[in-house]
Amino acid sequence: MRPIGIWSDVKLAIIKEYASAYAKILDAQRPESISRLRWIYIHAYAGPGAHLSRTTKELVDGSPLIALKTIPPFSEYHFIDADPKRADQLREIRGDRKDVHIHSADCNEILLEKVFPRAKYEDYRRALCLLGPVQHQSRMGGVIEAAAKAGSVEVFLNFMIMDINRNVLRNNLDQAIQSKVEQLTRLWGDETWIDAAYDTRGNLFGDPEKVSNERFESAWRERVGKKAGFKFASRPMPMRTKTNSVIYYLYFAYFASQKPVAAGIVDDIFNKYRNRAYKDGGKFTHRMDPRDLEPRDRLHKDQPRVQALLRGATGESVEADGSGKLPKRVSSHPATPGVGTAVTE
Ligand SMILES: C[S@@+](CC[C@H](N)C(=O)[O-])C[C@H]1O[C@@H](n2cnc3c(N)ncnc32)[C@H](O)[C@@H]1O
Repeated sequence: MRPIGIWSDVKLAIIKEYASAYAKILDAQRPESISRLRWIYIHAYAGPGAHLSRTTKELVDGSPLIALKTIPPFSEYHFIDADPKRADQLREIRGDRKDVHIHSADCNEILLEKVFPRAKYEDYRRALCLLGPVQHQSRMGGVIEAAAKAGSVEVFLNFMIMDINRNVLRNNLDQAIQSKVEQLTRLWGDETWIDAAYDTRGNLFGDPEKVSNERFESAWRERVGKKAGFKFASRPMPMRTKTNSVIYYLYFAYFASQKPVAAGIVDDIFNKYRNRAYKDGGKFTHRMDPRDLEPRDRLHKDQPRVQALLRGATGESVEADGSGKLPKRVSSHPATPGVGTAVTE
C-alpha cells in the first residue's frame, strides 16, 4: 500500500470534519421544513478506501470510508474509480449497504450521465462532491461546469500546482512537457493560462517571467468563477510538504442560489488547518474520531462559528452571548478574497 503524505492526512481531516457538519445541518432541516430533502456524497477519483499514513505509520481511513462513517449518514453515496481493481476494493468496503453505489468508470462521463442527474436542485437534492485531482483528465467544459450549473453541488477541488510548476511553467515554455500543457489547457478551458502564468513587466527587456504560485492560483480561482460558473470559491488551503513547498491547493466551491451557510464553515475549517499541521517539527499530531464533531468538543473549541452553526442545526440556542446571532467569521487574511467572495460578480 502506497503511504500518504502529511497533506493527505490534513485533507482527510478536513473532509471528515466538513462532511459531518454538512450532513448534520441538512438532517436538521429535513423533519421540520423539507421532508423530501436528500443529500448525496460523491467522490470522483475515489482511490482505495484506506491508506498507510507516512506520518503516523498507521492504517487510516481514506475518504470513502470516512464518508461511510459520517453521522448522520448521507442519503446515498457514489464512489467512482476508473481502475476496476480499485472499484473492487470499494465494493468490499461497501459490503451489503444498498445506499452505496460503486462506479468503475471514467468519472468525466458517469458524473454527467448518471450521478449529477440524481442531485437535482428542484428535486430537493443536494450533493457534496470531491473532484480531484482535477488535472487527471478533467476539463473545464465538462464536470466542473456541470457541477457549478447544477446549483445543488458543493465541490472540493484540487489544483495540482507542483505538477504544473515542474512540467508546464518552465522559464521557456518550449521546454514544457507537451502532454501536460494540453492537460492544463483542457482544465483551464483555453490557452489564456499562459497570460495568467507569465508577466512581461518585471524586467527591462519585456521577457516573460513566471508569476508567483499565489498569483497563478488566484487566476485559477477566478476561472472557477467566471468560466465554470461557481458563485463562491474559497481562498484555498495550500497543501504543503514538510519542506513547505505547495503540492496542491484545495478549493471549496459552490453555486449559491441560497445563503451559503456551509461555505462559512469550510472557511473556518481551512483556517484551523492552515498552520496547525506543521507545528511540532512537521508532525501532524491531530487525530480525529466521530466524537470530535459534537458541538462542545475540544476540536471545535477554537471555532465559535462552527459550534454555533452546529448548535443551530441541532435545535439548541445558537448564540454564545444571548444575542441570537452567529459570531462573526474572522478571516486570517482579510484583504484576500475568501469564502463568500462572489467570484462571478
Ligand atoms: C490519487 S488516487 C485518489 C486518491 C483519493 N482521491 C483520496 O483522496 O484518497 C487517484 C485515483 O483516481 C483514479 N482515476 C484516474 N483517472 C480517473 C477517471 N478519469 N475517472 C475515475 N477515476 C480515475 C485512479 O484509478 C486512482 O485510483
